[in-house]
Amino acid sequence: MPYIVAIIAGISGFLFGYDEGVIAGALSGLRHEFTVSPLLEGCMTAAVPFGALFGSLAGGWLADRYGRRGALILAGILFSAGAAVSSLAWDCTSLTTARLAIGLAIGLAAVAAPLYISENAPARHRGMLVSFYQLAITLGILGAYIAGYGLEGSWRTMFAIGMAPGVVLAAAMTTMHDTPRWLMLRGRTEDAHAALIQNGLAGQANAELQAIRRSIAATPRAARWSALFSRRVLPATIVAVGLFVLQQLSGINAVIYYAPLVFREAGFDSHGAQLLATIGIGVVNVAMTLVSMALIDRIGRRRMLYIGFVGAALSLTVIACAAASDSPWLNAVAFAGLLAYIAAFAISIGPLPWLMMAEIFPIDVRPLGMGLASIANWTFNALVVFAFPALLGGIGLAGVFAGFAIACLVGVAFTWALVPETSGASLEDIEAQLSSGERFRDLARAA
Ligand code: GLC
Repeated sequence: MPYIVAIIAGISGFLFGYDEGVIAGALSGLRHEFTVSPLLEGCMTAAVPFGALFGSLAGGWLADRYGRRGALILAGILFSAGAAVSSLAWDCTSLTTARLAIGLAIGLAAVAAPLYISENAPARHRGMLVSFYQLAITLGILGAYIAGYGLEGSWRTMFAIGMAPGVVLAAAMTTMHDTPRWLMLRGRTEDAHAALIQNGLAGQANAELQAIRRSIAATPRAARWSALFSRRVLPATIVAVGLFVLQQLSGINAVIYYAPLVFREAGFDSHGAQLLATIGIGVVNVAMTLVSMALIDRIGRRRMLYIGFVGAALSLTVIACAAASDSPWLNAVAFAGLLAYIAAFAISIGPLPWLMMAEIFPIDVRPLGMGLASIANWTFNALVVFAFPALLGGIGLAGVFAGFAIACLVGVAFTWALVPETSGASLEDIEAQLSSGERFRDLARAA
């Protein structure tokens, strides 16, 4: 049953990836039909991360007030409405507005879905189930790449494809219970019991309810944003925000949004070859996310982060060196290097921040904390995506990739100094450790 929970919430991840990736393939057709100035092109592209920034601002509050389920239903409706309007768009303004709505949905869902999954998942499967969300994102990106290749130019069809999953998400969520933790926070014990049964936990339902009740009783109510910076919560805030900032500064979305451009810079001359190589990136991203799901609850969060940051730093450095030395093998090195980079990212730097933000915040501030972490994600996502073309023109592929490699090395140090090990610990254990301040890192050593 928890798998069904993850699949439903995962649909929102698919839409996240699809709507992120689809604009790259759609832009050439749009340029053909509308008069698109560079400014308008920027607006249409940036509307999604910009909308997502606001969606994640509202997401924590909505998920608290109307529940994780309510927030996901709203996201589903916004996804389909945005997809419908964008496929029928009559000018750049209508398209930008529709993509803003899609961005809002992405931001909302990026808070509500991991929250919904993690609060429904049994501790021993939590890592795998939350990573399912990241898997869905990578499947969405791959879907958009394939649509861009197969439907070249037919942008209306590309956008319309996003409608169906949105409807399925909203409809399916109406048949599900909210999470036991949220229902208990609202004093709805019977519904919480039913939710635990939905999650296949009929046997442990009473013990689970007790544990949730204890953790709610032990935490102050009425969380405010300032609580995220209190002595109790600050260590969790630093870890969640820091991991997302580093995830984005590792350069992932320069590759995801601009893969064809990167391949062109690396000497792939034909447009077809650039798009095919891009699909290669999408495939490795999906495949390695699957590997990550198999390993994540066994190897431990910290070790996985080391593997990812070190692997990404090495592959970026190899590409940067090949580009700096104008190697005649640049296109081969860049292709292999980018595949290695995506593999390292997908196994660890991709899924882990999503997972850890959903497990390290105490229950009273969890939605707000996840909202703040998502804001960090979208702000740095937009910054990197916005700055990349200019940086590429200014300091070249070698310079930009060297910068990303440095960010990955900072990631190694950050993990070593600040990230706790949470593998196998229950959300209540993590919370108890966090409340004791200096013992937050002891959890890391014990696990
Ligand atoms: C993570 C990142 C997202 C990126 C994706 C690529 O989910 O947060 O920005 O596009 O990985 O797989």
